[in-house]
Amino acid sequence: MNFKITLLPGDGIGPEIVVEAARVLDTIAGKYNHTFTYQERLMGGCSIDKYGSSLTDETLADCKSSDAVLLGAVGGPKWDDPLAKDRPERGLLALRKGLGVFANLRPVKVHPALMEWSPLKPEKLQGVDILVVRELTGGLYFGFPKGRDVKDGRERAVDTLEYYDYEVRRVMELAFKLARGRKKKVTSVDKANVLESSRLWRQIAVKVGEANKDIELEHTLVDTASMRLITGPAWMDVMVTENMFGDILTDEASVLAGSMGMLPSASLGESTLGLYEPIHGSAPDIAGKGIANPVGTILSAAMMLRHSFNLETEAAALEKAVEQTITDGARTADIGGKLTTRQMADEIIKRM
Ligand code: IPM
Ligand code: MG
Repeated sequence: MNFKITLLPGDGIGPEIVVEAARVLDTIAGKYNHTFTYQERLMGGCSIDKYGSSLTDETLADCKSSDAVLLGAVGGPKWDDPLAKDRPERGLLALRKGLGVFANLRPVKVHPALMEWSPLKPEKLQGVDILVVRELTGGLYFGFPKGRDVKDGRERAVDTLEYYDYEVRRVMELAFKLARGRKKKVTSVDKANVLESSRLWRQIAVKVGEANKDIELEHTLVDTASMRLITGPAWMDVMVTENMFGDILTDEASVLAGSMGMLPSASLGESTLGLYEPIHGSAPDIAGKGIANPVGTILSAAMMLRHSFNLETEAAALEKAVEQTITDGARTADIGGKLTTRQMADEIIKRM
């Protein structure tokens, strides 16, 4: 089959990891007789430098006209001025919104061989297999009003946590659907004891739960959820939550896996066009050294095969190769090894 992929390497270590994921995809294409064609575009700080905008209309249009988008990472100290008109992160948010990818899937699994890299005791990590479904195009990141002004002679800044019923419903329904293929449990995370938006969230969770009686539904307040992720992470199957809650909880959950560098994500909307990116950032401290862990991006490519291209066999084969690579002891620096980004990708390719 033929698929068109837009590559957005971005900033920092982004280009180093995306090029490896593309090599892995090429290996899949060769092995299974597919054709992947790539177009590479700038997004983030690199796009600000070249075009004066973190995401140009042309780049967004190119992404929209492809079958999937693979992104590295954006941001860095160079573009961190709080008063700057544009920021690399704005490009990423505009891309998510522009593509309509309202659900961000972040699976967190712990490879037994990496348990020692987690700060948690190994017995707590047994059986951890969580899928966080983070709402991605609404909530505190996108609500209005938003901005800065001067009120009563004082400088003021406002962000708004806003949700429409349909925004909650569609991500909730997806969470239930995904739970059906797993352990059939949905944990809806909110702050319904304080926030109005969370009370709407919970109300809709209950309604969707009533229509999906084969799935167990539980509600947890976000502060409790953050505690339970550390005290007993194995309790959870699918966790669905607001945009910013999900941002925070997934960084927390990532340490369970030993390194943030290991974790992929898929952002999905109504169509099969998806946005795939590792959950880690641009890691400016190691950028250009060729030592970043490519696994998060490579596993994101596996999610692309599954969710955008419906190539389950290929996706599972790639995930198996990654698992075997880790079992066999191949390691980049973040998980205690010496392999370069390229060498780590080679180890995975060897096992495909
Ligand atoms: C993430 C990142 C982004 C987010 C930043 C870079 C805008 O932290 O994907 O989790 O907050 O969504
Ligand atoms: Mg984040």
